[in-house]
Amino acid sequence: MPLNIWIDCDPGIDDAFALAMAAASRDKLRICGISTVGGNQTCRKVTENALRLSSFLGLADVPVVKGAEGPILGDVKPADDVHGDTGLGNCRLPDGGKELASENAVLYMGRSIENMGEDERITLVPTAPLTNIALLLKTFPHVKEKIQQIVLMGGSAGSGNATPYAEFNIWTDPEAAAIVFQSGIPIVMCGLDVTRQCGLFRSQMEELLESRGPVKHAFGEMLEFYFNSPSYKKRSLACIHDAVTILYLTDPQLFQGSYMDVEVVWGKAEERGRTVCRPSGQMAAAGISAGNRVFVLNQADLPEFQRILLEKIDRLEDKNGNGKGV
Ligand code: RIB
Ligand code: CA
Repeated sequence: MPLNIWIDCDPGIDDAFALAMAAASRDKLRICGISTVGGNQTCRKVTENALRLSSFLGLADVPVVKGAEGPILGDVKPADDVHGDTGLGNCRLPDGGKELASENAVLYMGRSIENMGEDERITLVPTAPLTNIALLLKTFPHVKEKIQQIVLMGGSAGSGNATPYAEFNIWTDPEAAAIVFQSGIPIVMCGLDVTRQCGLFRSQMEELLESRGPVKHAFGEMLEFYFNSPSYKKRSLACIHDAVTILYLTDPQLFQGSYMDVEVVWGKAEERGRTVCRPSGQMAAAGISAGNRVFVLNQADLPEFQRILLEKIDRLEDKNGNGKGV
């Protein structure tokens, strides 16, 4: 029985890879919906990208809904240097003509989960700032019982990438992240500790770019921009952070992790957006709080990650090779 999932994203080059991984895994995953939130780029741009990606990847049947323009406090801080002005680097996807199912992701998600069968459950897969997820939990608190787990890209037990302390998704909306991490819902944290180990080499990007297949070529174009960006210009591996969430669901054997209590630093602190990770049980022992036993991934099998990722891109090429989805 395929696993019900909902992807909340800000495409975003690595978000595009996550959507592709899900599109190539519909034997294991039932994609109930895709929602967008301002993050890598403005909400308008990431929503246009999500619509075009869903047509391009053969997800025309999956509803796409538009979420929060930006974080609960403050404004979106687009990562133009990493994802480009459009959010997908130099890649220009065809306009599949797909329309939004709703301009209000939180309402649509809440109603969709409410209407699930009594015994049905859903896994939320946020690969962006957690604004929509926090608003969902605050607006529809009763849907928690139908959320099996949250497998999110975000956070770091070590250093950050947006600041020395904070990873971009958490840093963009720490208040929302604190609400999600304190929700009591089982969380798998695909943070920088594991996602920095997961990506493709320059040579693999060049192979995709040189392909005559529209799907491979498009992802090669996205990665080419990534490799030419200040973040990856001098590096051999381009981290495809968001893809880890989906591959954790389809191929969990790729990863290892441990249970930790994760506390999100919010408010005006210099370490705003930091995820402080302590071995599970330590917070309770110190009397700080009950702790939240988050499964924090910290190890990945890179060769196998690359093999499976490229195999899924191959599968999409075969299935959707006309670049217009099936
Ligand atoms: O820190 C990496 C995360 O921030 C990824 O989700 C990437 O898409 C950006 O949103
Ligand atoms: Ca993202």
